[in-house]
Amino acid sequence: MRQAGRYLPEYREVRARAGSFLDLCYSPELASEVTLQPIRRFDLDAAILFADILIVPHALGQELRFSEGEGPLLEPITTLADLDRLDSSAVDMRFRLIFETVAQVRSALSPEKALIGFCGAPWTVATYMVAGRGSPDQAAARRLAYRDPAFMRALIDLLCETSITYLSGQIAAGADVVQVFDSWAGTLADDQFFEWVIAPTRRIVQELKRRHPQVPIIGFPRGAGALAGRYIEETGVDGISCDTAHPLADMRDRLAPLATVQGNLDPLLLAEGGPRLGERVDEILGALAGKPHVFNLGHGIVPDTPPEHVDELVRLVRQSRC
Ligand code: CP3
Repeated sequence: MRQAGRYLPEYREVRARAGSFLDLCYSPELASEVTLQPIRRFDLDAAILFADILIVPHALGQELRFSEGEGPLLEPITTLADLDRLDSSAVDMRFRLIFETVAQVRSALSPEKALIGFCGAPWTVATYMVAGRGSPDQAAARRLAYRDPAFMRALIDLLCETSITYLSGQIAAGADVVQVFDSWAGTLADDQFFEWVIAPTRRIVQELKRRHPQVPIIGFPRGAGALAGRYIEETGVDGISCDTAHPLADMRDRLAPLATVQGNLDPLLLAEGGPRLGERVDEILGALAGKPHVFNLGHGIVPDTPPEHVDELVRLVRQSRC
């Protein structure tokens, strides 16, 4: 999950120095610096590459900017003609800057710390490409998938192929594990979930497994709920990152026999802190004791989280007797 970011003063300082968010993502020196910031400050086991899931559409030539208070804004792509017009001539050059960040982080990180590479899953990236921004229900992409499935298939195919190149390059540059973020998987009807979440993810996993059989792949189908088991079985991911709403008992009984489970502390509880934080850490660790489990949040750290709460969380997890 996001562990660098605006809640850290040292991030805000580098972000201001970089100028725009995209300049930061494409500067290997500054991006590796912010990747390492949480590792220097907290006793964490893994670093996650600093980049964004929207680097893929941007590298493919879609206009993108990150606007203060509004999040990402893109020039919407809704037809095959729009897709054909994309100028993807800079894709290799842009990806190379991200791979250079991976290489710099890996060489600066001590060997016992893992480096996680990532990309957005095709469906989630497509929701931003089609709507031109984030939305609470992803209505634009869901409607377009019904109205023009041929377009959606072409877009998802392009994203599958590009994501394979992107993740494979991150692995070649030194990523030990990769994670596929499907943050907007949870609003789809089940037939659509099979078509736009499971099938493309399976394609990415199969090809990465062929090229890099030793590298674990984590999926984050946020909001998958009752379909999380099918997601693991049919995509072939090694680990599943569970969102905050996913019941602990289901993670233990149904998912942990199928894959390593990650999650799923509420980021808002981390922001609040207090005695409930320690109790919940024990509940999570207790429920998953003896199972393949990576302690994690159910989503990214929110910007008003006091850094001391993250420190306290790491201490609680390390001290727990569960
Ligand atoms: O933890 C890390 O350090 C890794 C870096 C990382 C970022 N984005 C940096 C970022 C990762 C793994 C992501 C993934 C990402 N980006 C997802 C999937 C995971 C999730 O959170 O659901 C999604 C959907 C995005 C798209 C995105 N990027 C949005 C919606 C926003 C705006 C959110 C906001 O709070 O303004 C971003 C910007 C972004 N990506 C920030 C960071 C640190 C904040 C940028 C800033 O203002 O400095």
